Amino acid sequence: MKRNILITGGAGFIGSHVVRLFVNKYPDYHIVNLDKLTYAGNLANLKDIEDCPNYTFVRADIAELDEMRRIIKEYEISGIIHLAAESHVDRSIKDPFTFARTNVMGTLALLQAAKEYWESLPEKYEGKLFYHISTDEVYGALELTHPEGVPAPFTTKASSDNDMAYGTEFFLETTKYNPHSPYSASKASSDHFVRAYHDTYGMPTLVTNCSNNYGPYQFPEKLIPLFINNIRQGKPLPVYGKGENVRDWLFVEDHARAIDLIFHKGKVAETYNIGGFNEWKNIDLIKVIISTVDRLLGNPEGQSEKLITFVTDRLGHDMRYAIDSRKLQSELGWEPSLQFEEGIEKTVRWYLDHQEWMDNITSGDYERYYDDMYKNR
Ligand code: NAD
Ligand code: TYD
Repeated sequence: MKRNILITGGAGFIGSHVVRLFVNKYPDYHIVNLDKLTYAGNLANLKDIEDCPNYTFVRADIAELDEMRRIIKEYEISGIIHLAAESHVDRSIKDPFTFARTNVMGTLALLQAAKEYWESLPEKYEGKLFYHISTDEVYGALELTHPEGVPAPFTTKASSDNDMAYGTEFFLETTKYNPHSPYSASKASSDHFVRAYHDTYGMPTLVTNCSNNYGPYQFPEKLIPLFINNIRQGKPLPVYGKGENVRDWLFVEDHARAIDLIFHKGKVAETYNIGGFNEWKNIDLIKVIISTVDRLLGNPEGQSEKLITFVTDRLGHDMRYAIDSRKLQSELGWEPSLQFEEGIEKTVRWYLDHQEWMDNITSGDYERYYDDMYKNR
């Protein structure tokens, strides 16, 4: 079936994987990638598909309501997968207003523009979907009741050799929202607006909340790419606090596959948690990254452990995130495809093999890609 799908934030980390998957898998769909190209947006992430006939890039700001109205109408959009956001907790601590503007007002503008366009059509909301991508961070922080780890009560076929849980509780779709950082507060607010547009106006919406993603094309301010790059350059590895915080890691392509499945098969108005039961204490994860990078670079084992530098903790640092994704697994049959050890190996290799991509970011050159590629077309 021919469809025009708007993917927002497609020049970012997860968005670029979703755009690539949809462009390649659905030649009948026209994929419109809408992105403001903030510091986190990089069109070089999509070099391999930028000339595909079913792909269009549009530079725009989701918080500009009139622009959203114009674009949704011009491209006759019937489905929206909304990933555009400010996404880094540390930046949200320094500048919460930008997060409120993009994540809250931007999501609201997109919802309103879609509502007006879809309600103007004879078939109204039939065959339409507004799919909002959110995070597990909206649920708040879980306690570290088992700091040494216990065997995880739930596992998936592909989680990890290290099947550990660091507490007894997990985030469920029914867990009460309790965000702590300006980032998670802004995402929680946007989730509420999305559900309000369903409950009030009958707009077909869906929300998914995913755990921490890792993999190629992640901006090197986030833990994994930052540390891989610092190890390569022999720079310090700033571990916040004692490195005891726990995150639940999912390979980004598994998230993109889940988004594809849920976009096509998910039930309107539902929420699905996405995660692979793969908890890691930061310090243990950092040691895995160090040993993988050192091995692949041919360094003596553990050489880069001396780069570990414990620094002042992040303000309000959430202790533990752990997703219970059994609803998605049992209702829609999704499961992660990669063991964590495989995923980390693949990721480290990717960053080491794409040093030019990384160097373009650290030098700021990537910000000129749009001017070179698109401005004069
Ligand atoms: P990212 O920061 O890598 O990319 C965000 C993209 O949004 C960038 O391309 C940026 O240019 C664009 N953008 C920012 N403000 C915009 C605006 N006002 N208008 C249009 N475009 C704008 O983020 P990511 O890690 O790929 O995350 C994507 C989405 O997934 C976010 O909504 C995030 O909350 C959610 N999420 C991320 C993770 C994770 O681990 N990274 C986990 C769960 C959920
Ligand atoms: P991050 O990648 O920023 O993701 P999030 O805060 O959304 O979970 O951080 C992952 C974990 O790593 C988090 O507990 C904070 C910690 N961290 C460090 O210890 N040092 C760093 O330099 C960064 C960026 C993160």
